[in-house]
Amino acid sequence: MHTWDGAAVRSRHLLAWHERSNQDWERMVLDTVAEYQGKKQRAAERRGSIGLVFLNPSLRTLTSMEAAAVRLNMHPTTIIPGQGTWSFEWRDGVVMNADRAEHIREAVGVLSRYFRMLGVRSFASGTDYAADRDETRFRTILDAATVPVISLESAFYHPCQALADAGMLHHRFKGATAGRKFVLAWAYHPKALPMAVPNSALLMATRMGMNVTVARPEGFSLDPGIMERARMYASGHGQSVTETTSLGTAAKDAEVIYAKSWGAPLRYRDPEAEAQLRERHKQWRITEPLMAHTSRGVLMHCLPVRRNVVIDDAVMDGPQAVHLLQAEFRLHAQVAILARALG
Ligand code: CP
Repeated sequence: MHTWDGAAVRSRHLLAWHERSNQDWERMVLDTVAEYQGKKQRAAERRGSIGLVFLNPSLRTLTSMEAAAVRLNMHPTTIIPGQGTWSFEWRDGVVMNADRAEHIREAVGVLSRYFRMLGVRSFASGTDYAADRDETRFRTILDAATVPVISLESAFYHPCQALADAGMLHHRFKGATAGRKFVLAWAYHPKALPMAVPNSALLMATRMGMNVTVARPEGFSLDPGIMERARMYASGHGQSVTETTSLGTAAKDAEVIYAKSWGAPLRYRDPEAEAQLRERHKQWRITEPLMAHTSRGVLMHCLPVRRNVVIDDAVMDGPQAVHLLQAEFRLHAQVAILARALG
């Protein structure tokens, strides 16, 4: 018989790190690094299963989560709705007489009975800002689940990426991240990408005590609530968050350039106007001369990246790029996250 302890399960959900205590976050960063260094023995005898539901494409998250599960002797099952399973209906109260055969509530309820935990990727709608900001879709999943659920990237947050980035920075700077200049650098992209990664990177860097600059063109500001939380984290470390519309100025003396593209909030009201606005900023690209302005800074990108659109080949293939180490830390972070969810 399937039984569940609601409070215990909810304490192991992972939607976003800001919903978790500093103590939990700091332990997870150290666990991630410990896994990388191989100094901490993992509970290799743990067993369990995880259902990984990908409503959107992935290379890193899908494969590193499967690999992390195997490392913990867990069995991963990857589910891609619509490809061998039914397509899901999300709306409550709807008459399901169209092409979507299964409601997400039944799907998650059923999967909760098959797996010890679930991972779900569900990107932003890009059409309903309030629903994306409030994580309405992901909270429907949390509401229907009776086992811990780990976000594999939701509308506004990518906690697996954030922990991997934190672990990599902690490793790179030997634990001394506080006060270092971190630049979240907007870069042009032909599509209006979601804000989950930049939101999570900003919250991660400020929580690590870094001195953060957000460089982005006019009109590409991040959500005010995210900025406010980032400023709160920064001030807790005696740091600040600066915003600038000059990438060159931001890069000066930076120790980390975190390149990322995202769509302007305007996309929610007027996608065509947003596209026109974005097209005016093709020069926002990470180049060798830009990296030369930094304080021998490292170049981070969560990947996938469009070479010579977002970042030039010379930077991607140069000594300052750490994107592959960053991707490697996805695995270490997710081993730590799965171990946490196992309890
Ligand atoms: N960074 C990241 O989440 O990569 P994928 O989209 O390939 O999983």
